[in-house]
Amino acid sequence: MLNPPRDDDVNNGETMSAKNAKLLLDDAEYQFPVVQGTEGELGIDIRALRSTAGAITLDEGYANTGSTRSAITFVDGRRGILRYRGYPIEDLCEKSSFIEVAYLLIFGELPGQEQFAYFDRSVRRHSMIMEDIKQYYDVWPRKGHPMAYLSSIVSALSTYYEDSLDPFDPRQVEISVHRLLAKLPTIAAYAYKKSVGQPKIYPLNRLGYGENILHMMFAVPTEEYEVDKEIARALEQALIVHADHEQNCSTSTVRMVGSSYANIFASIAAGVLALWGPLHGGANQAVIEMLERIHSDGGGLNKWIDRAKDKDDAFRLMGFGHRVYQNYDPRATILKEASHRVLDKLGVHDPLLEIALELEEVALKDSYFVERKLYPNVDFYSGIIYKAMGFPVKMFPVLFAIGRLPGWIAHWKEMFESEETRISRPRQIYNGYPERKYLPLEKR
Ligand code: SDX
Repeated sequence: MLNPPRDDDVNNGETMSAKNAKLLLDDAEYQFPVVQGTEGELGIDIRALRSTAGAITLDEGYANTGSTRSAITFVDGRRGILRYRGYPIEDLCEKSSFIEVAYLLIFGELPGQEQFAYFDRSVRRHSMIMEDIKQYYDVWPRKGHPMAYLSSIVSALSTYYEDSLDPFDPRQVEISVHRLLAKLPTIAAYAYKKSVGQPKIYPLNRLGYGENILHMMFAVPTEEYEVDKEIARALEQALIVHADHEQNCSTSTVRMVGSSYANIFASIAAGVLALWGPLHGGANQAVIEMLERIHSDGGGLNKWIDRAKDKDDAFRLMGFGHRVYQNYDPRATILKEASHRVLDKLGVHDPLLEIALELEEVALKDSYFVERKLYPNVDFYSGIIYKAMGFPVKMFPVLFAIGRLPGWIAHWKEMFESEETRISRPRQIYNGYPERKYLPLEKR
């Protein structure tokens, strides 16, 4: 990993850069170092731009702006590549478990046997939440969206663990990480049980991560509940493909909030809220709602494809397109295969899957989508799997959050461990009024 050039290095040119970039502003020329990533991607280090050229860049949505250096996840949108700490997502999905992938993302290496045993045992044994937190659920609306529960209760966890909020104390960070990983599924499952008026089911420490989620969601006190291990495995694979995705909207939010030295619970709660949006983690819920709309409308696709292409129509094909992938999202490939496996195993025939497969086929032959490289993304198939497993649609973004938690934690931790980190504070181009005089009310 290149040692990033410090601001003062840039001026005297002693940078570690692979190349230099020249900027001509009016008749003045400025040089900036170019840094190169592991896979050859180039970034122009403009940290001295304002102080030397008196100008800033403008990049709505940050499509062309790198916010940091990171060693956690590599995404190649052109080739459809996704790797966590160098390991291809396909290998991790096939060979690893969610807890092992969480360890890999957070600590940077696959755990040895002792490390895994310690981490796995600790997470299993922190899965209960404080009993009085249950009162939150008693006073909230039954049909409230579970993402609201998730962010509020994650934030409230900080009030129970005032002894472990210091982001610079590795021991306090470690116990907070274990608590978050262990308690998020419990918080989520309790929100679901509240929505269906059923008793909350305690986690069982003898169960694996995916098994416990199914147990807490679908068991009832009145009868035995046998976890289907194949379904639990498929759920963990779905969580693995969601575990991280470099500087996406919610992860950037976690970094932004953490950069003010906010504690880890506050930072993660902010990430949950950013993920909720239908353009981001809320898309898996929006995909199912879109497929149900098409299904109840008779299943004809042309009308919906035309609407998605119509600039004057707000309708979009949810689950299609991606800021980074200009190719098929490798996670969609994995989840597409998993959705067939889960539906076959459960003997479920879901007409929405038929519509999804047809929609994908039609869209990928349509020049509008082909020209804009709009392929199915991770959210296109995940909802089909979750629906087949029995999760209600409102829980889909919650499952995304449970999957994404290790990535959020890994980035928050990487940020605090970096000497380069500064509080995030972007600039702006002001286009409001010039100075003007205050007019008293009686004269307006
Ligand atoms: C996730 O960043 C991440 O890594 C996110 C994520 C992660 O793991 O964290 O991968 C998870 O959020 C996946 C994306 C889930 N969202 C959706 O499926 C919602 C539908 N998709 C779109 O809203 C859109 O594609 C985005 C938000 C995903 C990407 O938006 P961009 O990069 O800002 O692209 P854009 O809106 O500028 O679109 C470019 C063009 C536009 O047309 P033109 O103006 O060029 O004519 O493509 C069109 C858009 O109108 N377009 C679509 C479309 N997505 C983009 N047209 C119809 N349907 C769509 N889905």
